[in-house]
Amino acid sequence: MNIILLGPPGVGKGTIASKLSKKMKVPHIATGDMLRENVAQKTDLGAKAKNYMDKGLLVPDELVIEMIKERLKRKDCKKGFILDGFPRTINQADEISNAARVDKVVNLQASDGIIVKRLSRRRVCSQCSFIYHLDFIKPNREGFCDKCSGTLYQREDDKPETVKKRLKVYEKQTEPLIKYYQDKDLLVDVDGSGLPEEVFELVDEAIAA
Ligand code: AP5
Repeated sequence: MNIILLGPPGVGKGTIASKLSKKMKVPHIATGDMLRENVAQKTDLGAKAKNYMDKGLLVPDELVIEMIKERLKRKDCKKGFILDGFPRTINQADEISNAARVDKVVNLQASDGIIVKRLSRRRVCSQCSFIYHLDFIKPNREGFCDKCSGTLYQREDDKPETVKKRLKVYEKQTEPLIKYYQDKDLLVDVDGSGLPEEVFELVDEAIAA
């Protein structure tokens, strides 16, 4: 099954995608993680993307589309995949329709208040990218990942000013995808405001329906 997780920054796409990926045994493909890896490894793509990411802006379509098309060609996507953070523009959505079948689009929803609270306390593992929250999904040892002992860091773009910008960018460039996928009869809305386990259950049910 090929699934897209749609929703504003910080709504919980990465958290849910990682759980779904384990349950469904298909890869979790997060364009944000792929771009951050490129930045960390100082690749050409990373150098081009960094400036946009730090400002809370979308990386140009041509860079992201090429990256995702290459990723989807890999063998592990044959059984299905979960896309997190892609598509984010109508152009990206058209491209993915040409490259792969889309079975379901889960639209996670939560208020801006909840989102800001989630992002301000998010910490990410520098080695395995596991996502923590200092109140809701706490690491056992402060500052270190439970899974791999990597150090936890706060993302550059989780600063309050950049979060505001990312929410505006989402509204303008990504929100139109809700209607795009409604028109294709692929969209299912899920309330993302509950606890992680509750949201996961709702997503799981929505996918099975
Ligand atoms: P990206 O990394 O994709 O960021 P995003 O979409 O803004 O989403 P986030 O990763 O911030 O949030 P999330 O919804 O995954 O939430 P999470 O699960 O972490 O993109 C970053 C940048 O890369 C973009 O700004 C852009 O520049 C570029 N980019 C990426 N893709 C692109 C594309 N396709 N085109 C162009 N540019 C692109 O959860 C957030 C926090 O809340 C965590 O601390 C988590 O532990 C906690 N949490 C999650 N669920 C719950 C819950 N139910 N209850 C309590 N806490 C929760």
